[in-house]
Amino acid sequence: MNPVAPATPGKDFLSILDLVRGDLDRLLGLAAQMKADRRLGTRAPTADALGGAHVAMLFEKPSLRTRSTFEIAVRELGGHALHLPAEFAQGTREPLEDVARNLERWVRALVIRTFAHRKAAIFAAAASDLHVINALSDEEHPCQALADMLTLRERWGSGRGRTLAYVGDGNNTATSLVHAAPQLGISVHLASPPGYELPARVVDEAIRGARDGASVRSFRDPRQAAAGVDAVCTDVWTSMGQEAETEERRRVFAGFQVDAALMAAAARGALFMHCLPAHRGEEVTAEVFESDASVVFDQAENRLHTQKALLAMLLA
Ligand code: CP
Repeated sequence: MNPVAPATPGKDFLSILDLVRGDLDRLLGLAAQMKADRRLGTRAPTADALGGAHVAMLFEKPSLRTRSTFEIAVRELGGHALHLPAEFAQGTREPLEDVARNLERWVRALVIRTFAHRKAAIFAAAASDLHVINALSDEEHPCQALADMLTLRERWGSGRGRTLAYVGDGNNTATSLVHAAPQLGISVHLASPPGYELPARVVDEAIRGARDGASVRSFRDPRQAAAGVDAVCTDVWTSMGQEAETEERRRVFAGFQVDAALMAAAARGALFMHCLPAHRGEEVTAEVFESDASVVFDQAENRLHTQKALLAMLLA
């Protein structure tokens, strides 16, 4: 699906769809083990998994969670993080392909956050010895979905027979969520305003990857989407780079706020999920955000453990 195909299957992680069958389950198992082992510090079995390897970080957009957790992950696996200025993702000083071919001589992996998914794909295709990891692009946010799936696994065990609702913008975070959940047997209900739905291609990809009878259904009414589900997920109405659309989006998404009434339509004990940062009073009320249903900081913590597992699986 990527515009420039990765050079080697399993080399890069630009999308949840880059995981071959069974990898997601294995990765979550490894992440859970690493989370338990963290108390061992430098005595953890994976404390030298990277063996001093360098990992470059190239971020075109702001980041708290992704940047911090990747840097800590690299360090806790015995590697070194190298922060590159964002200008190297512009392709103006030299072509992106040449940047990639330089980097592969020095570092094992590139963690990239970019406005253009195609740039990550160019880096991946240009350098056969460089593992490229998507730390959020305009199209996908696969590292977030890994943390979200670990959070659900901790709460539910097997996802088989569970359903989550995604209410809001059909954006990069939603894409990766809907790629991941059905692979674990979790059904997905989607509710977005007209014109802001996930692309039909993404829904088809999610359906093709579904296991254990999981389904993907779209709704116009967020209340119908949330009815009886085990978790309600949302994301900001205006993502980075869309600031000029803020007022228009507030108007369009007004009926798609996750509030107490929406959570009441879900099953008893349903979880509230958000990748953060959250805008209280827009996509979620402060009441829901601060409620016992909210697992948003578990999701944030699990960014670290899942990215450690990802790095270990790709690089070790
Ligand atoms: N959820 C997430 O990716 O957070 P950051 O933008 O802070 O990295």
